[in-house]
This record gives sequence, structure tokens and C-alpha cells, in this order.
Amino acid sequence: APYEGPTEVLEGRDVRSIVKYMKSKECRKVFVMLGAGVSTAAGIPDFRTPGTGLYSNLERLNLPYPEAVFAINYFAENPLPFYTLARELYPGRFRPTLTHTFVKLLADHALLDTCFTQNIDTLERRAGVPAHRIVEAHGSFADQHCIECKRAFDGAQMKAAIERAEIVRCGECGGLVKPDIVFFGEALPPLFERTVPKLREADLLFVIGTSLTVHPFAALTGLVPAGCPRVLINMERAGDIGGRPDDVVLLGRCDDIVREIAQELGWADELEREWAKT
Ligand code: APR
Repeated sequence: APYEGPTEVLEGRDVRSIVKYMKSKECRKVFVMLGAGVSTAAGIPDFRTPGTGLYSNLERLNLPYPEAVFAINYFAENPLPFYTLARELYPGRFRPTLTHTFVKLLADHALLDTCFTQNIDTLERRAGVPAHRIVEAHGSFADQHCIECKRAFDGAQMKAAIERAEIVRCGECGGLVKPDIVFFGEALPPLFERTVPKLREADLLFVIGTSLTVHPFAALTGLVPAGCPRVLINMERAGDIGGRPDDVVLLGRCDDIVREIAQELGWADELEREWAKT
């Protein structure tokens, strides 16, 4: 069950020692892995938190099982549930959170190597994280293609159709058009495969707001070198973080924990100032 108490350091080093390491010359390449938990404070529900998560609130779509809304085979036979949900999830109406701004500060301080995100809300871009530092592992709404002939489809037409929760068909072959979100059963973007090997150079890994239940994304945590501290910032334990001597498990709301880390780094005012600009 989600953790409701204060921020707690469960294992290994604490915030102070992580920050001391971040300020040292050994810590040059910081990697970040994000999940839906970083956008809940923006008003976007995550997927699996009991009660509030998306997957426990889809009864109205009469799905055979919750994840079907993002399953390519189900979409091909019944695209309406996805189009209904897409209107609620469509980027543009949500503001980045403090945690998204913290990732931007890591880039501003020349520490961020790559931010791998599972989220499709594009809030990392909206927070000002440099585009070449972001890998949207599960795609995004930025582009859309016909699932049959793969032809690209016009973004404005797609947006209008999603606003009306109308199904969109390819003008060439009549196939269904889908935003380039990675559905269960689809391959992840080539950029993901190309960038994953960089994790072998990681000096520090932050894993924030994810249950680490979906692969291959979840497996990234095992690719960083043995001496690279892995810091989980989450409401609950996730994956195997905590299993290595240098791991740190910080349970609590990510925005609260990020504020503590920023405070320790001397970035507290900068964090609030940059967030206020989003
Ligand atoms: N602060 C910290 N942690 C939070 C917060 C918060 N404010 N809100 C939620 N969490 C935690 C939850 O406790 C949970 O462990 O974030 C995690 C969210 O997990 P999921 O809902 O499973 O979301 P995510 O891990 O991103 O799902 C991965 O599953 O459905 C697919 O493709 C979809 O990208 C998604 C993937």
C-alpha cells in the first residue's frame, strides 16, 4: 500500500551523503528514470496506486482487463476506449511538477546525462529539460501513424479527433490511426535501444515515481555499474532498489523529497524560481 508517513530514509546512505557525493568530482553523469508518480501532483493519475490509479478507474470503458486500453490487439478491434482516455490524458492542460523542475536543474548544473521517462505527458519537455537529454521510452502524443500502413497522420487533425473522442482512420488504407504511444505488444522507440548502453557510465541513478513493473524499462536499474548509487524516490519500495550496498530508498512524496535534496544542495530558491516559470 502507498506510504502515507513522513519521508523516510530506509537504507544505505542518506540524503546528506548523496548530496555530498553529487558535489564531488566523482559524480559527473547522473541518470534519471521517471514514472507516473512524478505527474500525480500535476493532476494526472498514475496507473497502479489502489483506488486513485488509472487502472482502478476504467470500469466505464468496459475493458476485459485494465491494461487492454493500451494493448495493440485490443485497440485494433475496439479503439474507442483508448480514444476516450486519450482526451483525458492529452498533453497541454497540465503543468510540470517540482520534480520535473528538479530534473531540469540537474541539466542546468551540467549533471544530467539522460532522463528516461515512461510518461507520455511530455512534462519533462515542458519543464525545460533539454530535448536531447530526454528519452520518452513509451513514446508520446507528439506524432501519430496508421497501425496498418504506418503512414504518418496530421497532428492537428489527430488532436481535433481526440478532443471529440472520435476514431481516426487513415485516408490511404482505412486503417486505424494511433498516437505514437508504445502499447503493450509494440516495440519501444529506437532511441531507447540506442541510449540504454550509456547507463554503463552512470555515476548516480535517480528512480522516481515508478513501480518498476513494466519491462524492458524496469530492467534499466540493473545496468548501472556496481559502484553507482541508485536512489529510489517513491511512495513504496520498487524493483530491486535497496539490494545493493550503495542503494538509497527514500519513501514519501517525490516533491517533498526533491525539496529536501535541493535544500541540501543549496538549490532551494533556484528550484522554486524555475518551477514558478513553468
Ligand atoms: N510521490 C512518489 N511516488 C508516487 C507518487 C508521489 N506523489 N504518486 C505515486 N507514486 C508512486 C506509486 O506508489 C507507484 O509506486 O509511483 C508509482 C507509480 O507506479 P505505476 O502507477 O505503476 O506507474 P508506472 O510505474 O509509471 O507504470 C509504468 O505501466 O501502464 C504502463 O506504460 C504504462 O508507463 C506506464 C508503465
